Amino acid sequence: MITWSLLNYCLVLKRIIDILAVRGFTMRTCDLILKKRDGQSLNADEIDFLITGYLKGVIPDYQVAAFLMAIYFRGMSDQEIYALTRVIAESGENVSLEGIPGIKIDKHSTGGVGDTTTLVLTPLVAAAGVPVAKLSGRGLGHTGGTIDKLESIEGFKTGFSKIDFVEKAKKVGLIVAAQSPDLVPADQKLYALRDVTVTVESIPLIAASIMGKKLAIGNDALVLDVKTGAGAFMKEQKQAFNLARVMTAIGQKAGRATVAVISRMDQPLGKAIGNSLEIKEAILTLKGQGPRDLEELCLLLGGWMLYLGGKTIDPGEGKKDLARLIKNGAAINKFRDMVENQGGNKSIVDNLALLPAARLRVALKSEQKGYISSLDAQKVGSAAVMLGAGRRIKSDPIDPATGIILEKKIGDYVQVGETLAVIHASDATFRDVDHLVTGLIKSAYHYSNKTVPAPPLISGWVDRKGNSIYF
Ligand code: URA
Ligand code: CA
Repeated sequence: MITWSLLNYCLVLKRIIDILAVRGFTMRTCDLILKKRDGQSLNADEIDFLITGYLKGVIPDYQVAAFLMAIYFRGMSDQEIYALTRVIAESGENVSLEGIPGIKIDKHSTGGVGDTTTLVLTPLVAAAGVPVAKLSGRGLGHTGGTIDKLESIEGFKTGFSKIDFVEKAKKVGLIVAAQSPDLVPADQKLYALRDVTVTVESIPLIAASIMGKKLAIGNDALVLDVKTGAGAFMKEQKQAFNLARVMTAIGQKAGRATVAVISRMDQPLGKAIGNSLEIKEAILTLKGQGPRDLEELCLLLGGWMLYLGGKTIDPGEGKKDLARLIKNGAAINKFRDMVENQGGNKSIVDNLALLPAARLRVALKSEQKGYISSLDAQKVGSAAVMLGAGRRIKSDPIDPATGIILEKKIGDYVQVGETLAVIHASDATFRDVDHLVTGLIKSAYHYSNKTVPAPPLISGWVDRKGNSIYF
């Protein structure tokens, strides 16, 4: 009898403590949201309190959504962004690359359409002797993801334990694997919330999200590809340079040499958008038969990677070295080694017909004549998602064979009835979305009756000292 009432006492007391704790949490959370809403700065402990509380499920979505919106409008100081980056980086497991000899260089793109660079760049740079151990993501929204692309190769594995990840990287000097859910869980939870609260396009939030992921992996240096233009998060060049400066400063402060190239995403990169189609495009590029814009950007980013990896005295020299590795076959050989090392069918490299291919191909004809003056990457990306090449929500399946090949790009002249683009689709899906997809692609093309120069590939870069170079 006495024991029972004592137990009851304890239970009631615990309940009171819990309620008080939650009240305390709630009040403190409100104070911090208020501070940011009114444009004040938070210190590192306050940022840690909010993000850790959110990750533990103590602070609810609606309060963090309000906090994110406050950041969207008020911005963050460099100190706040660095604190947020560190909390994200330390929210889960970290991956040490100490077992891999050499200067390890990572690469990251802020997201684009038909952005096949990682698939070309990583074997290219590894062929030059710079080890690359890269964790990549899946596609979400109108942009594609490297992991989805690689998984269109039969047998190709992207999930490894930390030990196997390092061992496999050592074996061929290259691995591209999927980011596990244990790495930066705070970013995953925050990103999902940002996606549905329209708070993705914020410089502090993008910088902390990307750099949080980068700092969780023990690379020595980093080359960022910051996209700008209609198909990118940063539509304006000025914003893109700002984002680049913020991210390179975070890298430097964390002891990682970081440079950022600002590249144009007015139109999709290369000709292919879609998973299997981009694998083909990457293989052709590594053999020296790819689209010029894709090859050029890869050589440029790769030149910086060689430079930071101590292989050349300047990025321009690195570019020339890499062009030689495409010519002499070393680059495509490294890609073949990577496919084999990760369990994939390496015969696809020499026989592209072994890759998944769509049964239905529909040529989209131009209804006008003239020079292509713009080509909206976001619309083309959305059309590819509708065909099954990407996901609208996380659980959507991917159809690796589907996508779009752009036959005409900015600056090209087109006659009435000439093919603008070829749609690769499955019969079943296309029946449901044909009008939407063709409508989107047609509306992505704009014409001019005067000649239009091909747009520049890059706008400039931010070097490791934080200097901006504009082209
Ligand atoms: N890519 C990321 O990883 N995070 C962002 O916030 C935006 C692009
Ligand atoms: Ca492409």
